[in-house]
Amino acid sequence: MSTQLEKIQELISLREQARLGGGEKAIQKQHDRGKLTARERIAALLDEGSFEELDMFVRHRCTNFGQEKKSFLGDGVVTGYGTIDGRLVYVFAQDFTVFGGSLSETMSQKICKVMDMAMKMGAPVIGLNDSGGARIQEGINALAGYSEIFQRNILASGVIPQISAILGPCAGGAVYSPALTDFTIMTRGMSYMFLTGPKVVKTVLGEDVTQEQLGGADVHASKSGVTHFAANDGAEALAIIRKLISYIPQNNLEEAPLVECNDPIDRLEDSLNEIIPDNPNKAYDMYEVIGAVVDNGEFFEIQRDYARNIIIGFARFNGQSVGIVANQPKFLAGVLDCNSSRKAARFVRFCDAFNIPLVTLVDVPGFLPGTGQEYNAVILHGAKLLYAYGEATVPKITVTLRKSFGGSHIVMSCKQLRGDMNYAWPSAEIAVMGADGAAEVLYAKEAKEQEDPAKFLNEKKDEYTKLFANPYQAAKYGYIDDVIEPRNTRFRIIKALQQLATKKLTNPAKKHGNIPL
Ligand code: HXC
Repeated sequence: MSTQLEKIQELISLREQARLGGGEKAIQKQHDRGKLTARERIAALLDEGSFEELDMFVRHRCTNFGQEKKSFLGDGVVTGYGTIDGRLVYVFAQDFTVFGGSLSETMSQKICKVMDMAMKMGAPVIGLNDSGGARIQEGINALAGYSEIFQRNILASGVIPQISAILGPCAGGAVYSPALTDFTIMTRGMSYMFLTGPKVVKTVLGEDVTQEQLGGADVHASKSGVTHFAANDGAEALAIIRKLISYIPQNNLEEAPLVECNDPIDRLEDSLNEIIPDNPNKAYDMYEVIGAVVDNGEFFEIQRDYARNIIIGFARFNGQSVGIVANQPKFLAGVLDCNSSRKAARFVRFCDAFNIPLVTLVDVPGFLPGTGQEYNAVILHGAKLLYAYGEATVPKITVTLRKSFGGSHIVMSCKQLRGDMNYAWPSAEIAVMGADGAAEVLYAKEAKEQEDPAKFLNEKKDEYTKLFANPYQAAKYGYIDDVIEPRNTRFRIIKALQQLATKKLTNPAKKHGNIPL
């Protein structure tokens, strides 16, 4: 064999070795845990055959604890680029078969390299996390490695979309990279995220808690809101990423992909003319409204199980991607509170950063009262949503279906927060507060002097309802651009989006604002 061929043979065998990561035994262990390997995950995530791997020959350089005797080609992470539906993305997947995917200095360098490339090329970066945390043998170098990644997450925020899947352990400071990214996906029974594990919790607080109870997918999807999606397995998690990517642009200078729309834009949805119950205290399901107006009824919900009184997610109108924010009357009467405000605010900011128009569907009775909310800073959380809508310069379309009272009216993308098209259904009630509260405040004293205070208050409520429980007071002042027939909502939103396609609006130049965090 010629020297040249020998060298090529050496390359082929080195590649084969690298593809085995930590070795066949470790791969088997990973499979026995019900998990895919890093390379299998990348293959499932990207378009077939599109992955180009980088830095396959990188090895760690640590010599502590005899580490020089134990090293693997590629170290503990597989990095590179490929496509999803033909669009460029950068990927890193931690390889649990190598030192439990723990982060070394060289691993950090590999990850930072693809992050830098993603920034230069203006393409999303996707991290598949499955790691035992900082590579303990490397000490402070591992910490520095994390810090390099975090710094890049911060600078990339609002420039390129960043997505994290947690497909195994993610503990300690390692949680902060996913937390800094735009969307996080966890897998049930397989992944967990926490700053301090069950052992520390037991020592410090005496509490017995399992990994799943402390930081499993369902906990973070429903209680903390740390994860945006909880998938049943790794394959579902990767499918969620592919879908998510389909709704968003490559970077902050581009628009989301336009897809062909076969759903008629002027489709009338008669059911909407009857969806609002006669009794204002009765609920209806906002999902039905969303499903009725968007293209083909397809709604890609985000944070479905967290703060269910507000609904957020992506959909399309005439093939154009939009972010939907909608109060859910079926859950806590659609009230705004700490969690729903935070949830919606972050989503509004994502959409604004990435040129995705916002469609807001309003039916909100107000903010949730009480010490629980006030002590948890509902003022600041509500202000986050207010701030997010107010600073957003993307096209903003608001449709008020029913209630829109007081502060919550303002917060939910009102006209004065630079709402572009603010529509209302005839059933809308846009007022300072609901009739019950208003009558109590205005006539409590007078009511006491009446023979029948309850009857008197009811009369006053009726008077108030007649005067204010309609959209025409707001429309009279131009705060509502038009009162629309519910069944026509889809068409009116699409017309508005078409009209707003060339919208140009910029905020005053500044280093950055000071959102009430
Ligand atoms: C080096 C590690 C490692 C680590 C795991 N391994 N974590 N090596 N540094 N952090 C190695 C194991 O020694 C083992 O090597 C292999 O990976 C697989 O690990 P197992 O323990 O066999 O797997 P499993 O039973 O599934 O348990 C996974 C685990 C556990 C829960 C993650 O390994 C674990 O608790 N690891 C330590 C976690 C930790 O304390 N990390 C540091 C936190 S501090 P062999 O050779 O036997 O196969 C931190 C600070 C970050 O991360 C700060 C950022 C700002």
